[in-house]
Amino acid sequence: MNTNYKNIVVVGLGYVGISNAILLAQKNNVVAIDLDENKINLINKKISPIHDEAVSDYLKNKKLNISAQKVALNIYKNSDFVLIATPTNYDDMTNYFDTKTVENVIAKILAETTKATIIIKSTVPVGFTELMRKKFNTENIIFSPEFLREGMALHDNLYPSRIIVGDTNSAANDFANLLSDGALKKDVPKLLISSTEAEAAKLFANSYLAMRVAFFNELDSYAFEKSLNSKSIINTLSLDPRIGDHYNNPSFGYGGYCLPKDTKQLLANYKNIPQKIIQAIVDSNSTRKDFISNEIIKLKPQVVGVHRLIMKEGSDNIRESSMQGIMKRLQKKGIELIIYEPLIKEKTFFGSKLIVNFNAFVNNCDLILTNRMSKELENLDKMIFTRDIYQSD
Ligand SMILES: NC(=O)c1ccc[n+]([C@@H]2O[C@H](COP(=O)([O-])OP(=O)(O)OC[C@H]3O[C@@H](n4cnc5c(N)ncnc54)[C@H](O)[C@@H]3O)[C@@H](O)[C@H]2O)c1
Repeated sequence: MNTNYKNIVVVGLGYVGISNAILLAQKNNVVAIDLDENKINLINKKISPIHDEAVSDYLKNKKLNISAQKVALNIYKNSDFVLIATPTNYDDMTNYFDTKTVENVIAKILAETTKATIIIKSTVPVGFTELMRKKFNTENIIFSPEFLREGMALHDNLYPSRIIVGDTNSAANDFANLLSDGALKKDVPKLLISSTEAEAAKLFANSYLAMRVAFFNELDSYAFEKSLNSKSIINTLSLDPRIGDHYNNPSFGYGGYCLPKDTKQLLANYKNIPQKIIQAIVDSNSTRKDFISNEIIKLKPQVVGVHRLIMKEGSDNIRESSMQGIMKRLQKKGIELIIYEPLIKEKTFFGSKLIVNFNAFVNNCDLILTNRMSKELENLDKMIFTRDIYQSD
């Protein structure tokens, strides 16, 4: 056994947990914990529970010291680090993330050991870690933001743009080194800052990305309304290196698990601090969905076909996709919708029928909405409503 190996427990095996667990299991002993037995069984059989090429490859082909299981007594006792990657959904009642899962795990860890360093990987409100340190009377809780993209989760940890850890002590430094030791990219910038700064950095990073999406979407709304070619305008902007030719493809709105909730959380953290942009980022996404829905309504379709509820090609979940916002608006106007979404096995979704057979789906609607084009839609140009100009992210 390698004595340099750390004992690490990773709690919550979603996109964040599984990719970090695999990254660290190359050179450490990792126990991966979840409530979901199906995920546990898959990981122990070396099968990825998420759609992610690198995760599948590493589980199957690399030597990893990893075992998955349900939480058990004394599981945290001899660990050096415990990573928490459980969900923090946005609670519309409190206008804050629901951090219960993270708090419960912290309480369980501290009931077994006060020696382990607890690393919060879940996205949390600004000030949360400091609050937890006070509540549990320990300095051993650190926030380390996660910047991965779904579908590229392990890849983004093997080639991280930066590693950020929310303390300047030796445990924070050790953890930053563990992450970079597992990465394939060399000389990754490591920033040790306070957890509160790291929490803010995470929310500002995602809000910036949401702002960029919202900007190109509003440009597209303008071009659409004025019968101008969006692509011609965006191409011109994108050649300016200060703007850049990336993350500029119009859509029905930003979506996915993180951007909608992280922008709302940042806005909530601005309480009593003057701002206009953060509010506008949140509002702009609804305005965009209103605009898109109105344009669809103007076409007077009989039956609208919803092609996929995912955000983009290759995604394996439909969390907070902008298509669902469009659907709600069209349903309110009494427009009949049918849905093609192979990920959903039920017969209906929020009152609209799911059609399993693609040809039957096409034959039963007169307009097809798609946030992102895909191969199967080729040759159906006349039926399609999309704002996917570049056929990219
Ligand atoms: N998905 C992303 O792209 C992404 C990127 C950066 C940060 N984050 C943040 O990371 C966190 C996790 O996101 P995710 O997408 O990996 O989540 P996920 O929903 O894909 O997975 C979370 C996992 O945690 C498990 N879980 C819930 N409560 C648990 C408990 N008490 N004990 C053990 N397991 C438990 C669930 O069963 C699930 O498997 C969130 O706070 C999210 O905002 C997500």
